[in-house]
Amino acid sequence: MPGKNTPQPAPRFPSTSDLSGRRIGPEELEAVTRVLGSGALCRTVGTEAAGLEEEFARMIGSAHAVASSSGTAALHLAVFAVGLEAGDEVIVPPITDFGTVAGILAQNGIPVFADVDPVSGCLTAETVVAAITPRTRAVIAVHLFGGAAPVREIIDAVRPSGIVVIEDCAQAYLTVPDGGDAYAGTIGDIGCFSLQQSKHITAGDGGLTITDDAALARRMTLFADKGWPRDTGERTHLFPGLNYRMTELQAAVTRAQLPKLAGVVADRRRSATKAISALADLPGLHLPTQPDRHGFWMLPLVLVPGVLNIGCRDFAAALAERGVPAIGGYLDMPLHLTPAVRDRAPFGAEGPPFSVPPASREIAYREGDAPLAEDMVARTLLVIVWNENYIDEHVEHIVQAVRAVHDGALAVADGTAVRT
Ligand SMILES: Cc1ncc(COP(=O)(O)O)c(C=O)c1O
Repeated sequence: MPGKNTPQPAPRFPSTSDLSGRRIGPEELEAVTRVLGSGALCRTVGTEAAGLEEEFARMIGSAHAVASSSGTAALHLAVFAVGLEAGDEVIVPPITDFGTVAGILAQNGIPVFADVDPVSGCLTAETVVAAITPRTRAVIAVHLFGGAAPVREIIDAVRPSGIVVIEDCAQAYLTVPDGGDAYAGTIGDIGCFSLQQSKHITAGDGGLTITDDAALARRMTLFADKGWPRDTGERTHLFPGLNYRMTELQAAVTRAQLPKLAGVVADRRRSATKAISALADLPGLHLPTQPDRHGFWMLPLVLVPGVLNIGCRDFAAALAERGVPAIGGYLDMPLHLTPAVRDRAPFGAEGPPFSVPPASREIAYREGDAPLAEDMVARTLLVIVWNENYIDEHVEHIVQAVRAVHDGALAVADGTAVRT
Protein backbone atom coordinates (compact mmCIF):
# COMPACT_ATOMS: atom_id res chain seq x y z
CA MET A 1 0.00 0.00 0.00
CA PRO A 2 1.44 3.40 -0.90
CA GLY A 3 1.84 5.58 2.21
CA LYS A 4 0.28 9.00 2.70
CA ASN A 5 3.45 10.71 1.48
CA THR A 6 4.08 8.49 -1.54
CA PRO A 7 3.76 10.70 -4.63
CA GLN A 8 1.06 9.62 -7.08
CA PRO A 9 2.35 8.79 -10.55
CA ALA A 10 2.07 11.94 -12.65
CA PRO A 11 -0.38 12.12 -15.54
CA ARG A 12 0.97 13.40 -18.83
CA PHE A 13 0.57 17.17 -18.77
CA PRO A 14 -0.63 18.84 -21.99
CA SER A 15 2.03 21.20 -23.32
CA THR A 16 1.85 24.31 -25.49
CA SER A 17 4.89 22.94 -27.32
CA ASP A 18 2.84 20.33 -29.18
CA LEU A 19 -0.70 19.43 -30.13
CA SER A 20 -1.50 18.08 -26.64
CA GLY A 21 -1.83 21.61 -25.30
CA ARG A 22 -2.92 23.49 -28.43
CA ARG A 23 -6.31 23.79 -30.06
CA ILE A 24 -5.15 23.40 -33.61
CA GLY A 25 -7.39 21.41 -35.94
CA PRO A 26 -9.23 21.36 -39.25
CA GLU A 27 -9.97 25.11 -39.09
CA GLU A 28 -6.26 26.01 -39.09
CA LEU A 29 -5.56 23.39 -41.76
CA GLU A 30 -8.27 24.91 -43.96
CA ALA A 31 -6.82 28.40 -43.33
CA VAL A 32 -3.34 27.37 -44.44
CA THR A 33 -4.73 25.55 -47.47
CA ARG A 34 -6.81 28.60 -48.39
CA VAL A 35 -3.75 30.87 -48.38
CA LEU A 36 -1.50 28.43 -50.20
CA GLY A 37 -4.23 27.83 -52.75
CA SER A 38 -4.50 31.56 -53.39
CA GLY A 39 -0.78 31.96 -54.03
CA ALA A 40 -0.89 35.24 -52.06
CA LEU A 41 1.41 34.75 -49.08
CA CYS A 42 2.39 38.35 -48.33
CA ARG A 43 -0.12 40.77 -46.81
CA THR A 44 0.61 43.39 -49.45
CA VAL A 45 -1.20 41.19 -52.00
CA GLY A 46 -3.63 39.28 -49.75
CA THR A 47 -6.62 39.89 -47.50
CA GLU A 48 -5.95 37.73 -44.43
CA ALA A 49 -3.91 40.15 -42.32
CA ALA A 50 -6.37 42.98 -42.94
CA GLY A 51 -9.24 40.62 -42.08
CA LEU A 52 -7.52 39.56 -38.87
CA GLU A 53 -6.98 43.19 -37.85
CA GLU A 54 -10.67 43.93 -38.24
CA GLU A 55 -11.78 40.78 -36.41
CA PHE A 56 -9.37 41.16 -33.49
CA ALA A 57 -10.20 44.85 -32.99
CA ARG A 58 -13.91 44.00 -32.89
CA MET A 59 -13.45 41.07 -30.51
CA ILE A 60 -11.26 42.93 -28.03
CA GLY A 61 -13.18 46.22 -28.18
CA SER A 62 -10.73 48.55 -29.87
CA ALA A 63 -11.05 50.83 -32.90
CA HIS A 64 -7.87 49.59 -34.63
CA ALA A 65 -5.55 46.59 -34.62
CA VAL A 66 -2.23 46.29 -36.45
CA ALA A 67 -0.75 42.87 -37.13
CA SER A 68 2.99 42.24 -37.01
CA SER A 69 5.53 39.44 -36.95
CA SER A 70 5.86 38.96 -33.15
CA GLY A 71 4.91 40.30 -29.74
CA THR A 72 8.31 42.02 -29.64
CA ALA A 73 7.43 43.73 -32.94
CA ALA A 74 3.98 44.66 -31.59
CA LEU A 75 5.69 46.47 -28.69
CA HIS A 76 8.26 48.08 -30.99
CA LEU A 77 5.42 49.48 -33.12
CA ALA A 78 3.92 50.97 -29.97
CA VAL A 79 7.05 52.73 -28.73
CA PHE A 80 7.80 54.02 -32.22
CA ALA A 81 4.26 55.30 -32.66
CA VAL A 82 4.34 57.38 -29.48
CA GLY A 83 7.35 59.25 -30.83
CA LEU A 84 10.10 58.00 -28.55
CA GLU A 85 13.25 60.07 -29.11
CA ALA A 86 16.87 59.28 -28.30
CA GLY A 87 17.38 59.46 -24.55
CA ASP A 88 13.66 59.35 -23.77
CA GLU A 89 12.82 57.09 -20.85
CA VAL A 90 10.20 54.37 -20.69
CA ILE A 91 9.21 52.91 -17.32
CA VAL A 92 8.98 49.10 -17.35
CA PRO A 93 8.84 46.29 -14.76
CA PRO A 94 11.86 44.02 -14.20
CA ILE A 95 9.81 40.79 -14.31
CA THR A 96 8.86 40.35 -17.94
CA ASP A 97 10.11 39.03 -21.27
CA PHE A 98 12.93 40.88 -23.06
CA GLY A 99 10.40 41.73 -25.77
CA THR A 100 9.01 44.41 -23.48
CA VAL A 101 12.23 46.43 -23.70
CA ALA A 102 13.73 45.40 -27.07
CA GLY A 103 11.87 48.10 -29.00
CA ILE A 104 12.82 50.80 -26.47
CA LEU A 105 16.51 50.01 -26.92
CA ALA A 106 16.11 49.75 -30.71
CA GLN A 107 14.62 53.26 -30.77
CA ASN A 108 17.51 54.60 -28.74
CA GLY A 109 15.29 55.00 -25.70
CA ILE A 110 16.17 54.14 -22.12
CA PRO A 111 14.28 51.50 -20.13
CA VAL A 112 13.83 52.59 -16.52
CA PHE A 113 12.96 49.70 -14.22
CA ALA A 114 10.44 50.50 -11.51
CA ASP A 115 9.80 48.04 -8.70
CA VAL A 116 6.74 45.82 -8.50
CA ASP A 117 4.01 44.77 -6.14
CA PRO A 118 5.59 41.84 -4.24
CA VAL A 119 2.58 39.59 -4.80
CA SER A 120 1.45 40.35 -8.36
CA GLY A 121 4.89 41.12 -9.80
CA CYS A 122 3.30 44.03 -11.68
CA LEU A 123 4.12 47.74 -11.62
CA THR A 124 2.05 49.86 -9.24
CA ALA A 125 1.01 53.50 -9.53
CA GLU A 126 3.38 54.30 -6.64
CA THR A 127 6.43 52.60 -8.12
CA VAL A 128 5.75 54.20 -11.50
CA VAL A 129 5.41 57.69 -10.05
CA ALA A 130 8.68 57.23 -8.14
CA ALA A 131 10.45 56.50 -11.44
CA ILE A 132 9.15 59.51 -13.42
CA THR A 133 11.71 62.08 -14.61
CA PRO A 134 11.35 64.97 -17.06
CA ARG A 135 12.49 62.53 -19.80
CA THR A 136 9.76 59.94 -19.16
CA ARG A 137 7.76 59.47 -22.36
CA ALA A 138 5.84 56.26 -21.68
CA VAL A 139 5.19 53.43 -19.27
CA ILE A 140 4.70 49.82 -20.30
CA ALA A 141 2.50 47.99 -17.80
CA VAL A 142 2.86 44.23 -18.14
CA HIS A 143 -0.13 42.08 -17.17
CA LEU A 144 2.04 39.31 -15.76
CA PHE A 145 0.99 35.65 -16.22
CA GLY A 146 -2.53 36.87 -17.14
CA GLY A 147 -3.03 38.80 -13.90
CA ALA A 148 -3.97 42.44 -14.34
CA ALA A 149 -1.59 45.30 -13.59
CA PRO A 150 -3.46 48.23 -11.95
CA VAL A 151 -3.59 50.05 -15.25
CA ARG A 152 -6.34 52.53 -14.39
CA GLU A 153 -4.45 53.67 -11.28
CA ILE A 154 -1.28 54.00 -13.34
CA ILE A 155 -3.09 56.07 -15.96
CA ASP A 156 -4.54 58.39 -13.31
CA ALA A 157 -1.10 58.80 -11.76
CA VAL A 158 0.82 59.60 -14.96
CA ARG A 159 -1.74 61.55 -17.02
CA PRO A 160 -0.85 64.90 -15.45
CA SER A 161 2.71 64.39 -16.76
CA GLY A 162 1.52 63.62 -20.30
CA ILE A 163 3.00 60.14 -20.15
CA VAL A 164 1.65 57.53 -22.57
CA VAL A 165 0.48 54.17 -21.18
CA ILE A 166 1.18 51.02 -23.16
CA GLU A 167 -0.21 47.70 -21.95
CA ASP A 168 1.86 44.56 -22.60
CA CYS A 169 -0.81 41.86 -22.90
CA ALA A 170 1.42 39.16 -24.38
CA GLN A 171 0.42 36.93 -21.45
CA ALA A 172 -3.02 38.40 -20.88
CA TYR A 173 -5.74 37.70 -23.41
CA LEU A 174 -9.21 38.55 -22.09
CA THR A 175 -7.82 39.61 -18.71
CA VAL A 176 -10.21 42.10 -17.11
CA PRO A 177 -8.43 44.72 -14.97
CA ASP A 178 -10.18 46.02 -11.86
CA GLY A 179 -12.57 48.93 -12.16
CA GLY A 180 -14.65 47.88 -15.17
CA ASP A 181 -15.43 45.25 -17.78
CA ALA A 182 -12.94 46.31 -20.45
CA TYR A 183 -10.27 43.87 -21.55
CA ALA A 184 -6.61 44.48 -20.83
CA GLY A 185 -5.10 46.32 -23.77
CA THR A 186 -8.07 48.61 -24.32
CA ILE A 187 -7.58 50.79 -21.24
CA GLY A 188 -4.21 52.41 -21.94
CA ASP A 189 -3.31 54.26 -25.14
CA ILE A 190 -1.98 51.13 -26.84
CA GLY A 191 -2.19 47.38 -26.11
CA CYS A 192 0.23 44.74 -27.41
CA PHE A 193 -0.35 40.99 -27.82
CA SER A 194 1.82 38.02 -28.82
CA LEU A 195 0.92 34.99 -30.91
CA GLN A 196 4.09 33.09 -30.05
CA GLN A 197 3.81 29.31 -29.61
CA SER A 198 3.24 29.37 -25.82
CA LYS A 199 0.53 32.04 -25.75
CA HIS A 200 -3.25 31.54 -25.43
CA ILE A 201 -3.62 31.53 -29.21
CA THR A 202 -0.78 31.09 -31.65
CA ALA A 203 0.44 31.23 -35.21
CA GLY A 204 3.92 30.09 -34.13
CA ASP A 205 4.90 33.74 -33.94
CA GLY A 206 2.99 36.94 -34.53
CA GLY A 207 1.85 40.14 -32.84
CA LEU A 208 -1.17 42.41 -32.61
CA THR A 209 -1.16 46.04 -31.44
CA ILE A 210 -4.41 47.81 -30.67
CA THR A 211 -5.38 51.44 -30.20
CA ASP A 212 -8.41 53.71 -30.49
CA ASP A 213 -6.24 56.44 -32.02
CA ALA A 214 -6.31 56.43 -35.83
CA ALA A 215 -3.08 58.44 -36.14
CA LEU A 216 -1.17 56.03 -33.88
CA ALA A 217 -2.61 53.09 -35.83
CA ARG A 218 -1.40 54.53 -39.15
CA ARG A 219 2.10 55.19 -37.79
CA MET A 220 2.21 51.59 -36.56
CA THR A 221 0.98 50.20 -39.87
CA LEU A 222 3.62 52.16 -41.74
CA PHE A 223 6.39 51.30 -39.26
CA ALA A 224 5.71 47.59 -39.82
CA ASP A 225 6.11 48.19 -43.58
CA LYS A 226 9.34 50.20 -43.91
CA GLY A 227 7.53 53.52 -43.52
CA TRP A 228 5.91 52.98 -46.92
CA PRO A 229 2.52 54.73 -47.29
CA ARG A 230 0.96 52.23 -49.66
CA ASP A 231 -2.46 53.73 -48.95
CA THR A 232 -1.46 56.88 -50.89
CA GLY A 233 -0.06 54.99 -53.88
CA GLU A 234 3.36 56.61 -53.42
CA ARG A 235 6.62 54.67 -53.45
CA THR A 236 8.32 56.62 -50.74
CA HIS A 237 9.38 56.04 -47.12
CA LEU A 238 8.14 58.48 -44.53
CA PHE A 239 10.35 57.23 -41.69
CA PRO A 240 12.82 54.41 -41.13
CA GLY A 241 10.39 51.59 -40.39
CA LEU A 242 11.29 47.93 -40.43
CA ASN A 243 9.71 44.97 -42.15
CA TYR A 244 7.55 43.61 -39.34
CA ARG A 245 4.74 42.47 -41.65
CA MET A 246 2.71 39.46 -40.57
CA THR A 247 2.49 36.88 -43.35
CA GLU A 248 -0.84 35.78 -44.77
CA LEU A 249 -0.20 32.27 -43.41
CA GLN A 250 0.23 33.60 -39.86
CA ALA A 251 -2.83 35.80 -40.26
CA ALA A 252 -5.05 33.01 -41.60
CA VAL A 253 -4.02 30.65 -38.78
CA THR A 254 -4.68 33.38 -36.21
CA ARG A 255 -8.13 34.02 -37.72
CA ALA A 256 -8.89 30.34 -37.16
CA GLN A 257 -7.60 30.60 -33.58
CA LEU A 258 -9.63 33.72 -32.67
CA PRO A 259 -13.03 32.03 -32.27
CA LYS A 260 -11.36 29.54 -29.89
CA LEU A 261 -9.90 32.21 -27.59
CA ALA A 262 -12.91 32.64 -25.29
CA GLY A 263 -13.04 28.87 -24.71
CA VAL A 264 -9.30 28.69 -24.07
CA VAL A 265 -9.50 31.39 -21.41
CA ALA A 266 -12.71 29.98 -19.87
CA ASP A 267 -11.16 26.51 -19.57
CA ARG A 268 -7.94 27.88 -18.08
CA ARG A 269 -10.02 29.90 -15.58
CA ARG A 270 -12.19 26.95 -14.63
CA SER A 271 -9.29 24.60 -13.89
CA ALA A 272 -7.15 27.28 -12.20
CA THR A 273 -10.09 28.29 -10.01
CA LYS A 274 -10.44 24.67 -8.88
CA ALA A 275 -6.76 24.53 -7.98
CA ILE A 276 -6.91 27.84 -6.12
CA SER A 277 -9.94 26.71 -4.07
CA ALA A 278 -8.21 23.45 -3.20
CA LEU A 279 -5.08 25.29 -2.03
CA ALA A 280 -6.80 28.22 -0.33
CA ASP A 281 -6.35 26.90 3.22
CA LEU A 282 -2.55 26.63 2.96
CA PRO A 283 -0.71 29.20 5.06
CA GLY A 284 2.25 30.98 3.55
CA LEU A 285 1.05 31.00 -0.06
CA HIS A 286 -0.40 33.94 -2.00
CA LEU A 287 -2.80 32.77 -4.72
CA PRO A 288 -4.54 34.90 -7.37
CA THR A 289 -7.49 36.58 -5.65
CA GLN A 290 -9.67 37.39 -8.68
CA PRO A 291 -9.63 34.27 -10.84
CA ASP A 292 -12.63 35.42 -12.90
CA ARG A 293 -10.56 38.40 -14.11
CA HIS A 294 -7.31 36.46 -14.65
CA GLY A 295 -6.14 35.03 -17.98
CA PHE A 296 -4.03 32.23 -16.40
CA TRP A 297 -1.25 32.11 -18.92
CA MET A 298 0.44 30.64 -15.85
CA LEU A 299 -0.72 30.04 -12.29
CA PRO A 300 1.55 32.12 -10.03
CA LEU A 301 1.96 31.17 -6.37
CA VAL A 302 3.98 33.50 -4.18
CA LEU A 303 5.66 32.13 -1.07
CA VAL A 304 5.61 34.01 2.20
CA PRO A 305 9.12 33.90 3.67
CA GLY A 306 9.19 32.94 7.33
CA VAL A 307 6.09 30.76 7.02
CA LEU A 308 7.57 28.28 4.59
CA ASN A 309 11.13 27.15 4.96
CA ILE A 310 11.71 26.67 1.25
CA GLY A 311 12.63 28.98 -1.60
CA CYS A 312 10.73 29.10 -4.87
CA ARG A 313 13.47 27.33 -6.81
CA ASP A 314 13.58 24.35 -4.44
CA PHE A 315 9.79 24.33 -4.36
CA ALA A 316 9.69 24.16 -8.17
CA ALA A 317 12.34 21.42 -8.23
CA ALA A 318 10.31 19.38 -5.72
CA LEU A 319 7.20 19.84 -7.87
CA ALA A 320 9.12 18.82 -10.97
CA GLU A 321 10.20 15.64 -9.16
CA ARG A 322 6.49 14.94 -8.76
CA GLY A 323 5.94 15.52 -12.46
CA VAL A 324 4.39 19.00 -12.16
CA PRO A 325 5.60 21.60 -14.68
CA ALA A 326 6.72 24.52 -12.51
CA ILE A 327 9.27 27.31 -12.77
CA GLY A 328 10.97 28.79 -9.69
CA GLY A 329 11.41 32.55 -10.02
CA TYR A 330 10.12 32.53 -13.63
CA LEU A 331 13.39 34.16 -14.82
CA ASP A 332 17.00 33.40 -14.00
CA MET A 333 17.35 37.09 -13.09
CA PRO A 334 15.18 40.19 -13.42
CA LEU A 335 15.53 41.94 -16.74
CA HIS A 336 17.66 44.87 -15.50
CA LEU A 337 20.40 42.41 -14.49
CA THR A 338 20.57 40.55 -17.82
CA PRO A 339 23.67 41.35 -19.90
CA ALA A 340 21.55 42.76 -22.74
CA VAL A 341 20.36 45.55 -20.42
CA ARG A 342 22.99 45.75 -17.68
CA ASP A 343 25.90 46.23 -20.11
CA ARG A 344 24.22 49.39 -21.53
CA ALA A 345 25.64 48.78 -24.96
CA PRO A 346 22.85 48.37 -27.51
CA PHE A 347 24.94 50.28 -30.07
CA GLY A 348 28.46 49.59 -28.81
CA ALA A 349 30.16 50.33 -25.51
CA GLU A 350 30.57 54.07 -26.18
CA GLY A 351 27.34 54.43 -28.02
CA PRO A 352 23.96 55.97 -27.56
CA PRO A 353 21.61 56.31 -25.82
CA PHE A 354 23.38 56.15 -22.48
CA SER A 355 26.48 58.21 -23.12
CA VAL A 356 25.38 61.01 -25.40
CA PRO A 357 23.10 64.01 -25.07
CA PRO A 358 20.20 64.46 -24.70
CA ALA A 359 20.29 61.74 -22.01
CA SER A 360 19.93 63.84 -18.91
CA ARG A 361 21.43 61.64 -16.22
CA GLU A 362 23.71 58.69 -15.73
CA ILE A 363 21.72 55.47 -15.93
CA ALA A 364 23.12 52.25 -14.51
CA TYR A 365 21.44 48.92 -13.91
CA ARG A 366 22.44 47.29 -10.65
CA GLU A 367 21.35 44.76 -8.10
CA GLY A 368 19.25 46.61 -5.53
CA ASP A 369 17.49 48.82 -8.12
CA ALA A 370 14.24 46.87 -7.68
CA PRO A 371 14.54 44.91 -4.41
CA LEU A 372 11.00 43.55 -4.40
CA ALA A 373 11.24 42.22 -7.95
CA GLU A 374 14.69 40.81 -7.24
CA ASP A 375 13.38 39.03 -4.14
CA MET A 376 10.47 37.53 -6.07
CA VAL A 377 12.75 36.10 -8.74
CA ALA A 378 15.29 34.82 -6.22
CA ARG A 379 13.04 33.54 -3.44
CA THR A 380 9.27 33.81 -3.62
CA LEU A 381 7.80 33.54 -7.12
CA LEU A 382 6.65 30.09 -8.12
CA VAL A 383 4.93 29.66 -11.47
CA ILE A 384 2.92 26.60 -12.37
CA VAL A 385 2.62 26.16 -16.10
CA TRP A 386 -1.05 26.25 -17.07
CA ASN A 387 -2.99 24.95 -20.05
CA GLU A 388 -6.50 25.01 -21.49
CA ASN A 389 -6.46 21.24 -21.87
CA TYR A 390 -5.92 20.44 -18.19
CA ILE A 391 -8.65 18.19 -16.84
CA ASP A 392 -9.49 17.31 -13.23
CA GLU A 393 -6.76 14.68 -13.13
CA HIS A 394 -4.09 17.32 -13.83
CA VAL A 395 -5.53 19.78 -11.32
CA GLU A 396 -5.77 17.10 -8.62
CA HIS A 397 -2.20 16.01 -9.22
CA ILE A 398 -0.95 19.61 -9.02
CA VAL A 399 -2.91 20.22 -5.81
CA GLN A 400 -1.60 17.05 -4.18
CA ALA A 401 1.97 17.85 -5.16
CA VAL A 402 1.81 21.47 -3.96
CA ARG A 403 0.24 20.36 -0.67
CA ALA A 404 2.92 17.70 -0.14
CA VAL A 405 5.85 20.05 -0.77
CA HIS A 406 4.17 22.80 1.23
CA ASP A 407 3.46 20.55 4.22
CA GLY A 408 7.08 19.41 4.34
CA ALA A 409 8.34 22.99 4.22
CA LEU A 410 5.84 24.13 6.84
CA ALA A 411 6.87 21.32 9.19
CA VAL A 412 10.51 22.30 8.91
CA ALA A 413 9.61 25.92 9.61
CA ASP A 414 7.86 24.69 12.78
CA GLY A 415 10.89 22.61 13.69
CA THR A 416 8.57 19.64 14.07
CA ALA A 417 9.51 17.38 11.18
CA VAL A 418 11.89 16.80 8.35
CA ARG A 419 10.88 17.95 4.88
CA THR A 420 9.98 15.08 2.55
C1 LIG B 1 5.18 39.85 -21.29
C2 LIG B 1 5.74 39.58 -22.66
N1 LIG B 1 6.08 40.63 -23.43
C3 LIG B 1 6.57 40.47 -24.67
C4 LIG B 1 6.76 39.21 -25.21
C5 LIG B 1 7.36 39.08 -26.57
O1 LIG B 1 6.57 38.35 -27.44
P1 LIG B 1 7.21 37.50 -28.63
O2 LIG B 1 7.90 36.32 -28.05
O3 LIG B 1 6.01 37.14 -29.47
O4 LIG B 1 8.15 38.39 -29.37
C6 LIG B 1 6.42 38.09 -24.45
C7 LIG B 1 6.55 36.72 -25.00
O5 LIG B 1 7.29 35.91 -24.62
C8 LIG B 1 5.91 38.27 -23.14
O6 LIG B 1 5.60 37.23 -22.36
